[in-house]
Amino acid sequence: MTKTIGILTGGGDCPGLNAVIRGVVKSAIIRHGWRVIGIEDGFDGLLSLAKCKPLTLESVRGILPRGGTILGTTNHGNPFSYPVEQEGAIVHLDLSEKVVENIRALGIDALVAVGGEGSLKIALELSKKGVPVVGVPKTIDNDLRETDFTFGYNTALETATDALDKLHTTAESHHRVMILEVMGRYAGWIALESGIAGGADVILIPEIPFHIDRICDAVTRRSARGSRFSIIVAAEGAFPEGGSRVVAKKADECQTIERLGGIGQFVAQHVQKCLDMDVRVTVLGHLQRGGSPTTFDRALGSRFGTKAVQMVAAGDFGRMACLRGRTITSVPIEDAIRDLKLVDPEGEIVRTAEDLGIMLGR
Ligand code: F6P
Repeated sequence: MTKTIGILTGGGDCPGLNAVIRGVVKSAIIRHGWRVIGIEDGFDGLLSLAKCKPLTLESVRGILPRGGTILGTTNHGNPFSYPVEQEGAIVHLDLSEKVVENIRALGIDALVAVGGEGSLKIALELSKKGVPVVGVPKTIDNDLRETDFTFGYNTALETATDALDKLHTTAESHHRVMILEVMGRYAGWIALESGIAGGADVILIPEIPFHIDRICDAVTRRSARGSRFSIIVAAEGAFPEGGSRVVAKKADECQTIERLGGIGQFVAQHVQKCLDMDVRVTVLGHLQRGGSPTTFDRALGSRFGTKAVQMVAAGDFGRMACLRGRTITSVPIEDAIRDLKLVDPEGEIVRTAEDLGIMLGR
């Protein structure tokens, strides 16, 4: 029987989204002869039929190496609590019935939601309303449970590691302390793994509150040993022991999540007081989300996309495709969004960093 699959990409974009879209479209059409409808701008697109358009083999031609998402995305606007202005004030309306109505009107038999924790929470709520949903785990932060990796993370790591390689040469020439601020929200995966791969001297992650004096001691000891420069990687969510995260923009009525940023400058200001060295800060920002996906993310995105179609064929709804070891399988969405997958402060990767002489701020 011919089916119609709807696909949307929600939350912050990341490299590999187009590989997933292509994987869904190609396998739905080539393997099953089904129809695919692309929904623009995440769940927002399901509030307007004009934003839902057929995707064909032609639509996905040439998109595999392209960053971003051909469908567009947004990281605010939850249809269960949708911000609208009424008489000068923002009120939140539950527009989920409208979403379900539009899904029916479009003849969508299954919805593939590609997103991180926030988008998958919305997907799960929709599935509780009777929408057959399949999730695909996306985020550069790699903080989703039940999957070894999310796609996008590997590309972000490459970008951060490349930045560290470049900072090394200039740090060494000028005998400076270079601080690289990376993304990751409340998880330290990007900082930790790029820091190890990029030969950082200090790595600060949210899971291990740091002490400024100990960072200064580590840099001073390094200088005394003849290495007159140091590289510090700071995850945007890192914070000092007894202190709080540095927030660039607080959560507001429309965009309910806070935006982190500024930890690099914070650390610079404080270490500068106890070091007789120049300190400079680089904020890598959205470069980590852009650009062409790595081979790993293209392959993982393609495998997740085709797995999502297999799950639709098998009627495995309310579940998320995931990677376990080298195998693609699936888990209940509920388990994946239970809480965030954080770095274990006593785990193997932290141990590796510390065995390499990298200082983690503690
Ligand atoms: O979740 C992905 C992410 O890039 C985080 O690492 C970062 O904190 C956030 O999104 C940035 O969001 P925005 O695109 O709204 O600046």
